[in-house]
Amino acid sequence: MVEKRSIPYIKTIFVCTNVREGGKVACANPGRGGDEICEKLKAYIKERGLKGKIRAVSSGCLDLCAQGPNVFVYPVGRWYSGVRQEDIAQLIKEIGCDRT
Ligand code: FES
Repeated sequence: MVEKRSIPYIKTIFVCTNVREGGKVACANPGRGGDEICEKLKAYIKERGLKGKIRAVSSGCLDLCAQGPNVFVYPVGRWYSGVRQEDIAQLIKEIGCDRT
């Protein structure tokens, strides 16, 4: 039997950090930025004291590779494509987790 649990984080940001070889486009291929965005999000959340409210995690392919780097916010259901590191503050603000 599966055990039900309450969600430990209010919001989770899934960041595609998928890498593909052979010339196929992927969010975390060199120069695309998926890994860096995930790490910057984690640092931003920690710096702002938002741990416990929001969590950034790396994810596999979200199936919109050419539009990446892609980010999906659960349970908000909001999707962001073409995310850049400089978009992080705005992203956190839009999903309603920033105190500023
Ligand atoms: S590699 Fe990121 S959506 Fe496919």
